[in-house]
Amino acid sequence: MRFPACRHANQSARTPAARPLAWLAAEPFRLFFPSGVLFGIAGVMLWPLFYQGQLSFHPAASHARVMIESFGGAFVLGFLGTAGPRMIGAPRLTSWEFSSLFLLHLAGGICHLLGRNVWGDACFLALLAGLSLALGVRLAMFRREPPPPPLLLAALGLACGMAGTLMWLNPAWMKTTEMYRLAGLLLYHGFLLAPVMGVGIFMFPRLMGHGFGEPAPGRETRNSWRNMILVAIALTASFWIELWVNPAAGLSLRFAAFVAALGHVRWRPASGSGHAGTLANALRCWCLPLAAAGILGPVFFAARRIAFEHLLFVGGFGLLCVIVGSRVLFGHSGKVERFHHRSWMARAIVFAIVVAALTRLSADFMPRVTISHYEYAAWSWAVGLLLWLVWHAPRFFNKDDDGT
Ligand code: HEM
Repeated sequence: MRFPACRHANQSARTPAARPLAWLAAEPFRLFFPSGVLFGIAGVMLWPLFYQGQLSFHPAASHARVMIESFGGAFVLGFLGTAGPRMIGAPRLTSWEFSSLFLLHLAGGICHLLGRNVWGDACFLALLAGLSLALGVRLAMFRREPPPPPLLLAALGLACGMAGTLMWLNPAWMKTTEMYRLAGLLLYHGFLLAPVMGVGIFMFPRLMGHGFGEPAPGRETRNSWRNMILVAIALTASFWIELWVNPAAGLSLRFAAFVAALGHVRWRPASGSGHAGTLANALRCWCLPLAAAGILGPVFFAARRIAFEHLLFVGGFGLLCVIVGSRVLFGHSGKVERFHHRSWMARAIVFAIVVAALTRLSADFMPRVTISHYEYAAWSWAVGLLLWLVWHAPRFFNKDDDGT
């Protein structure tokens, strides 16, 4: 079973099976996903450690960076590093490219966990620049297929991630509160939200049991490019409007872009499949609604912005990583049909992550129990991710039948 976005089983695809590093380079998700999950647990457990007096620094910056750069970033890298070259029929990542990217990812995450945020950001910037270069060269020189329109939003995510990190690395640029917030919006929101919308248009129909959301060649593709460009402009403009014009208008525009991008995905399971599996149900019943509430919530509760943003971070980005990651792992271990099953383990994972999201939100509304609720949320999140790791453990290094 090949990667869901794969259209080419080319020659270079078969050679890596014989050599472990080349095989991992062809399918970077196999290392990036588990590593991202471990960072995701560590980044959240900074809070219980801090409140128990076991941490010598305040973890706010390290937590935010580990969660976005090392957890979310690992899933972006794992997904784009695997699917990007295949979508355009280009050669897969080489062992050197993969090893350098993975080492930068590890170094960045470890630096952030130790409170060395400047070094961590520098590694992350190099990581995103390296991935962009690797994909850009393939797109310019080796592509055999035109890039699908949603790839534009993935590219926008990389650009937001690099711009935001560059700003954090240059404190001299952050002369006003708005500039400081812009760095946060670009890195914490744009870097993940844009690829979620782009990849979602392509992947979500597949997760509901339909075909890929690829437009047909010709007019449909031209329309899709136009829509992607409009969504990209709306998303970017929403940051500027939120900071310099009107916060509610900016957030509403971002919400509108989110709905416009994902609104026409067919959310009913494919006819004939009977019912949606646990993870597909979690996508439409929890993940998307929590993400939407996280984007729109601060319009009504401006003073609780960070609390509502955690609905997007935990219930949106976090749960989505787990769901899409599961689809990729099932697909690449020859068990794709298991994604559409109902499963107690999947239910337990979804439950733990949703509880984490709601507990994190509620914490900021209850001053007397805020800290204990942060700790419960952190533990619930850690349990959900640990279960996911254990559930998929046999699949991370399980070679597919056709060796790809
Ligand atoms: C589930 C348990 C979690 C807890 C208890 C928690 C706790 C917190 C707290 C207390 C802050 C505020 C830091 C400050 O004083 O500025 C914060 C900020 C942040 N958290 Fe979390 N968090 C959790 C999960 C996550 C997840 C899963 C993500 C991302 C996937 C995430 C991403 C962020 C980001 C990006 C910020 C900075 C927000 C901003 O400054 O705009 N958090 N978190």
